[in-house]
Amino acid sequence: MRNILLRFFACAVAVAVGASVVQAAGTAGSRYGSDYFPNVDVLDQDGRKLKFYDDVIRDKIVLVSFIYTSCRDICPLVTARLAQVQERLGSAVGRDVFFVSISIDPENDTPQRLKEHAEAFHAGPGWLFITGRPDDIKLINYKLGERSRSLTEHRNEIVLGNDRTGDWARDSAFTDMSVLAMTIQGMDPEKRREAARQVIVDQAKVVPDTDVLPGQALYARTCAACHTLGKGARVGPDLLGVTGRRDRAWLANYMIAPERMRAAHDPIAVELMGKYKNVRMPTLGLSENDASDLVAYLEFQTYRITAPKSEATRAHERGHQHGGHSHNHSH
Ligand code: HEC
Repeated sequence: MRNILLRFFACAVAVAVGASVVQAAGTAGSRYGSDYFPNVDVLDQDGRKLKFYDDVIRDKIVLVSFIYTSCRDICPLVTARLAQVQERLGSAVGRDVFFVSISIDPENDTPQRLKEHAEAFHAGPGWLFITGRPDDIKLINYKLGERSRSLTEHRNEIVLGNDRTGDWARDSAFTDMSVLAMTIQGMDPEKRREAARQVIVDQAKVVPDTDVLPGQALYARTCAACHTLGKGARVGPDLLGVTGRRDRAWLANYMIAPERMRAAHDPIAVELMGKYKNVRMPTLGLSENDASDLVAYLEFQTYRITAPKSEATRAHERGHQHGGHSHNHSH
């Protein structure tokens, strides 16, 4: 995990010292409007031609991310997190707020590839994946503050904006899910007060985590965006029972370095690749300790979900669910 966190902090610091160009402007008719954003032609994942400012930004609240479909480390995780935010916001996406993922590799990201990427993450309506002429896309990304010189250098912040008020700000897709959903809704001044009230209610409901298992927090933050335990394939396979199908060493190696295993033509890795065509399990920078915690956590969850249960166990679990631990073992 350290890699990701470091990169995340690196960019948080960069923003803090003023490297960001997109800042909250605060006033209506601000300079971050039609004069600022290029109104060039772009293409969405369905191959539709759009004017970038008029059709994508104008009068909208947008959540912008920067991706490329051949990315094998951190950006699929960003998209997966945003897919969770989309789920959380429900019908507001496409009505009150629009998601925009802009390719930073327009030479290779055709609408077709973006479409496959969107489908792999179950992106719903209200979420555009944008590509276009490389120079135009570069300019758009530059204006939005994405200025990496190479793909691998590419940072993973997201940009939130409200064109009507001229408020633009950076955030991270790794912010706690509820906080992020709230921040997005808070881009709408009318909803801000409402949201502030809600926080107080939510805080009152928070139950402290007293018995978090090793691996559990890591799983929730990093893996649950793409995998379920017992609820079917999501972006990647259902991990319930995976500890029975594969051996522990293979699992740990795969979690640490899926890219390397594919490159080495590991037969299982190759088979999985054929089955999950449009998105690859990213290399997430896990340590060996992280991997063994995760394997143990998966084993434990598999056991807990599949083992025959006594009534006492069920009652105990019901108690736990009320305590906020219901992520993976309820239906
Ligand atoms: C961005 C989405 C994504 C994230 C995040 C992710 N995975 Fe995956 N995972 C996949 C996909 C897709 C596959 C299917 C194989 C492939 O990528 O070629 C997969 C495959 C796997 C497999 C092999 C399953 C099998 O049937 O053998 C394991 C184990 C696994 N992931 C564990 C994890 C763990 C643990 C985490 C968190 C540390 C994680 N994954 C995070 C997308 C993801």
